[in-house]
Amino acid sequence: MPDRAAVIAALDAVTDPKSGQGLMVAGLVQGLVVAEDRAGFALEVPAGDTALYAPVRDAAEAALKAIPGMARVSVVLTAEAVAAPSPRRRTAGLSPQAVDQGRAKAPVPTERPAHVRRVLAVASGKGGVGKSTVSVNLACALAARGLRVGLLDADVYGPSAPTMLGISGKPAYEDGAMVPHEAWGLKAMSVGLLMQAEDAMIWRGPMASQAITQMLTQTRWGTEDEPLDVLVVDLPPGTGDVQLTLIQKTPLDGAVIVSTPQEVALADARRARTLFDRVNVPTLGLIENMSGDVFGRGGAEAEAERLGVPFLGDIPLDAAVRESGDAGRPLMIGAAESPAARRFVDVAERLARALTLET
Ligand SMILES: Nc1ncnc2c1ncn2[C@@H]1O[C@H](COP(=O)(O)OP(=O)(O)O)[C@@H](O)[C@H]1O
Ligand SMILES: [Mg+2]
Repeated sequence: MPDRAAVIAALDAVTDPKSGQGLMVAGLVQGLVVAEDRAGFALEVPAGDTALYAPVRDAAEAALKAIPGMARVSVVLTAEAVAAPSPRRRTAGLSPQAVDQGRAKAPVPTERPAHVRRVLAVASGKGGVGKSTVSVNLACALAARGLRVGLLDADVYGPSAPTMLGISGKPAYEDGAMVPHEAWGLKAMSVGLLMQAEDAMIWRGPMASQAITQMLTQTRWGTEDEPLDVLVVDLPPGTGDVQLTLIQKTPLDGAVIVSTPQEVALADARRARTLFDRVNVPTLGLIENMSGDVFGRGGAEAEAERLGVPFLGDIPLDAAVRESGDAGRPLMIGAAESPAARRFVDVAERLARALTLET
């Protein structure tokens, strides 16, 4: 049986490219689980460094798999929350009274996109927990119900819709509006299609929310004859000022929060709930992703109960989910009968009801 000492030694033999130290010593290993023939952890890296660390994640997985007797391994690459909340906001904490005090009194004016019935946000406290994977597959699962669905990838820190849907190229302009890409039955837009490397400062600064509001309201999502039923917005991870401004300016009808079962991720999920409360956006529920025997399961369900929000379902940790995302063909399309896809179908059914899209 592999033991913890062997796992730690293996991880310290993998070098952190930034500090030159082993991964354990460098403090990048979070929530390490070692049990019988399996091990897993979150490799937590600074926001913006996820591309740099993708090969490190692979090397860590390989190092763990090389330990004799190790059968199942999972390393999740997560990005640290980007901006710390301001001190005033930090006091909002979690108590209902504090949340209430922090709540915006006068609503910030928002502009609804034309011919869109519902806008649904998908949020997470941390990057890397599967927010984009859930956004894309939920959008496909909603479309499979016969709904007209759009996906707006607003994650300025790591847009992934272009890869996950296999779309590229700037959107066309027609009569002053952007024309969304069509992929797998969805209408799709991504900040990744618009931003150039040199624009990063604009996209990640105070203008980001303005730019995203423009994509929301100046895209031809639907027409009078064929309105979009639901627009799924893949939000940037975290609960900082960028996220707050963005959700204040976006006419959201509801939000779902994605978390992994680990306590470190759940704490961030709690903060995301507080953020939506403050702007009076209903949290429609919590989704547990990467559920299964490496990280355990049920953490998010218990957390949902504590928070008093519905638990929408758990999506198993499954290599096919990652492969389909990398290949640009969502699991819901390529393997609609797989266990993970069936979970997305169940979650979509609950959400369609919560959004009163169907009776
Ligand atoms: N249920 C799952 N099983 C296996 N891999 C997953 C699962 N969900 C997400 N992943 C993989 O984890 C990585 C991070 O997921 P992603 O959706 O990009 O997260 P986020 O948008 O929260 O940063 C991706 O490589 C993705 O394919
Ligand atoms: Mg993402």
